[in-house]
This record gives sequence, C-alpha cells and structure tokens, in this order.
Amino acid sequence: MLERYGHGGDLVTAAEMYGIPASDFIDFSSNMNPFGPPDAVQRVMEQRWRDLDQYPDPAVRGLRSKLAARHGISMNNVLCGNGAAEIIDLVIRAMRPGASVALAVPGFGEYADAARKYGGKLFTVPLLEDDRFRLSEASVFETVERDKPGLWMLGSPNNPTGQTVSRDLVLKLIDTGAFVVIDEAFIDFIADEDRLTLVREAAARPNLLVIRSMTKFYAVPGIRLGYAVGSPEVIAAMRRLQTPWSVNSLAQWMGEAVLGDEAYEQRTLAWLAEARPHLAASLQALGFTVFESAVNYLLLKLPDRCVLDASELQRRMGQRGVLVRDASHFEGLNGRFIRVAVKLNEQNEKLVQTLKAVLLESGTHAEMERG
Ligand SMILES: Cc1ncc(COP(=O)(O)O)c(C=O)c1O
Repeated sequence: MLERYGHGGDLVTAAEMYGIPASDFIDFSSNMNPFGPPDAVQRVMEQRWRDLDQYPDPAVRGLRSKLAARHGISMNNVLCGNGAAEIIDLVIRAMRPGASVALAVPGFGEYADAARKYGGKLFTVPLLEDDRFRLSEASVFETVERDKPGLWMLGSPNNPTGQTVSRDLVLKLIDTGAFVVIDEAFIDFIADEDRLTLVREAAARPNLLVIRSMTKFYAVPGIRLGYAVGSPEVIAAMRRLQTPWSVNSLAQWMGEAVLGDEAYEQRTLAWLAEARPHLAASLQALGFTVFESAVNYLLLKLPDRCVLDASELQRRMGQRGVLVRDASHFEGLNGRFIRVAVKLNEQNEKLVQTLKAVLLESGTHAEMERG
C-alpha cells in the first residue's frame, strides 16, 4: 500500500512498489507548490552551510519575529515547530491529554492519530457527500450538545476536501468554551487568505489555536517547518513540551528567507487560479465527480462505470509513473475516492492522459464513449 506510513508523497515506498526510480514519478499524492522551493532556499544552502557548526537559535527568534510582523501579532503568540505535524502533536499534549476530541471526517489523519496516542476519546462529525462535504453548523452543535468535547480540531482548508470552515462557525464554537484548533496548513493557497485566517483571533483568545505550515506553499516538506499562533499561555505550555532545537538552523534560515517573497506568492496564486478549474474540467470530462476546492488539491469520485476501485486505480497509475492518493484511507470515504494535487499544466495533462489510459484499459472509458 502506497500510504503504508499514513501519508501521500512517499516516493521511497512508490519506488519499492512499482520498480521505478523515485525521481521519475510525477507525484500528485502530496500537495506541494509545483514551482518548487523559492530561489532564496538555494541561496541559504549555498551561503550558510558553514554556520551549521553552531546550534540553532533555541527560541527561533528571527523567524518568529518575521512571522509576528507578517500577521500583526506579537512574537509571544508564535511557536515554530518541526512541521505542522509537530504542532498537532504538541497541542494535543499541552491542552488536554486524555480529553475528548472532536474531528470532522474525512479529515487529516494526524488529528485522530495524535488524539489516540495521548488517550483521547474521539467524536467525529461526518462531512457528507450529499452536502458536497461542507461542515454543517447543525451537526457541529449537535456534537457540542451531546458529547461536550473539550477540544476541536478542524482543517480549514480541510484535507482531503479542500473546503474552508466559516469564521462565524469557529467563533461560535469558541464561545461554547471548548478549545478549538484550526489547521490552516494550506490557507496560503487562497488569494484572500487575510480575510479567512483566524491568526489574529487566535493571538487574542485563550481557547483558539491556529496551525500553519510552511512546507506546502513554499514546497519544502523536506525541511519540516510549521508554526502555531495562540495566546502566550498556550504557546508557552506547548513550548515546555517541545524537544530542544526541534527547528533546525536550515529550516529557520529558509523560513526567514522565503517569507515576503511576493513575486513567488503572486506567481503561485496566478497559476492556481488558472490551473485548478482547467484540471477540474478535464477530469469531469473523463467522468470524475470533482468536489469544489479552495486550494491546490481536488477530491475526486471515480466515474460510476469505473470497474476499478481507488486502490487498483492507484496501482495502475503508479506503474505508469503517476502517483495519486487513494482516499479510501480517510475515515468517512470509501474505495470510490481519490485525491490529486493540482500541478503545472504539462503535468496535469500527463495526469489526465494517464487516467484516461487506465480507464480505457479497464474498459470504463470505452463504455463511456459509447454512451
Ligand atoms: C492538513 C494538514 N495539516 C498539516 C500537515 C503537516 O504539514 P507539515 O509538513 O508542515 O508537517 C499536513 C501534511 O500533509 C496536512 O495535510
């Protein structure tokens, strides 16, 4: 199984499974900015490698101060981590180990894994296909009334659905007294991010924490870099649990160097505004149901007449050097769903053509063409 270690983007497993060198795959199974790391990342590596003979700043002051300035908050509201993944783990440990945790499903698997790891009792709010996977306020407040979870963890934009949670809903949830964590790992891919993000609210309230990632938008998952924004008390509680020097020097320098690269940001947003609808239309033309997404990935339902399930489709695509995410591993979805990243036009075209070939080979597409 390609998701053997729980995530997409596992090129080592793909190489083992399909007998193709890792560098030869086109990877639609993880959702990175297809422009690759900004030039500043290369400059940091070339210019600063000698400085690796020193320990990283244990308090990550340079990067935290830049992040604080970017969001108009104080440095005490920011904690950097070894990827957003570390922040997810830290917040569960810092807040209420063993507490009841509510999640929307399908959602990013690390929320449930982290909650389980620390003895949390899980409650899930289903996102329904019939509602196009939107989070319904009614079902959230049903869970609040019935289960009274102490902690909520919601993705906005949610992975794998690509939908955002309304700010109003989050603010109402905070008013119930629960501690709310909003994972905004992909929010930078939304052009009016500033209108949607809850970072300023998180800095000002004791029971809201926002998680951000720098690995997706800046295409540096290999360095691991994310951060949390919250009240100084919550940030301090998380920091006390963190391994010393958890954010290495390269990650700190790169984070500082890429922030504020406006040309890269504009280029990314312009590409996505054009590429996502184009790819969605091509996939629809092949018979896939494409769910609305605000970001750089699309949740797809296989064509009704497709005789393959997601796992077999993934296998046949992988054998052709194209990796897609089998979304049946997300709780709440089944073998009719896959998730694909939006990439550059030429790569997207390769995805569409490969899907078409696989469908054709399985008999699906020929049947579709006959009507
Ligand atoms: C929704 C979501 N949050 C957080 C993460 C973790 O990101 P990072 O690479 O910063 O650890 C991921 C990674 O796929 C994700 O999809």
